[in-house]
Amino acid sequence: MPTVQEIRSKAGEEPITMVTAYDAVTATLAEQASVDIALIGDSMGNAVLGYDDTLPVTVDEVASRTGAVARGTEDTLVVADMPFLSFGTDLQTGIENCGRMIKEEGANAVKIESGEHTVELTDRLTDLGIPVVAHVGLTPQSVNQTGYTRQGSDPEQAKEIARLAREHEEAGAFACILEHIPANLAAQITDDLAIPTIGIGAGSDCDGQVLVINDILGLSDRTPPFAKSFGDVREEMESAIGDYVDAVESGEFPGEEHSHVAEELDELY
Ligand code: KIV
Repeated sequence: MPTVQEIRSKAGEEPITMVTAYDAVTATLAEQASVDIALIGDSMGNAVLGYDDTLPVTVDEVASRTGAVARGTEDTLVVADMPFLSFGTDLQTGIENCGRMIKEEGANAVKIESGEHTVELTDRLTDLGIPVVAHVGLTPQSVNQTGYTRQGSDPEQAKEIARLAREHEEAGAFACILEHIPANLAAQITDDLAIPTIGIGAGSDCDGQVLVINDILGLSDRTPPFAKSFGDVREEMESAIGDYVDAVESGEFPGEEHSHVAEELDELY
């Protein structure tokens, strides 16, 4: 498993790859593809739990799936994404929820959507030995304030995002996700920070990239403009499930090769 220091030292040297994973099977496949970091994103809300956004996702849901991803990997850094209101209300609750991901579920680090209210938390967690990934720009837990629109397009907002990223680096974050901000702003933040930036919809000058696994696989019914599908798993699944239904309905499945007969049961009645 790469350590957070190893991830840090990749900044400016070697691209960092991060994907979301919500189960052990996907996490194992991500590891086989040499992904550096598996993020148990609260994007699971939209991606797999059937919610309209990430807000209803609970600590228990992230915990259960973090455990699954940790069991499915050996050589991948496992980062649990802290859901809405699992931190930020008071320091103690935030620390306990983050600590649970490390102590009980096998995560190596946590990710926290960053704001003024997470600087002190980042500092305390880092002191306690809980590595933190910061997240600035579009932060989907603030959807009711910002929508899902690109952030940082005006100079004031851009400076604010850059300042927040720097403050979290100073507080001890070992990496910073930059979501849906202009590529030239992301490039300047990447230059400014010593820790790696990991972009999603933030151009190619970040130190690494992250995408939601459903988008990578072509499993999503709606893909954000900055994402790219590298496969068509949705079509594969539709076709496989459809073929199964047809085979059962036509009596073609199960065939003899999928059944067994115990001769001693022939005369049971
Ligand atoms: O929840 C998530 O998957 C994320 C990434 C898109 C960065 O926050």
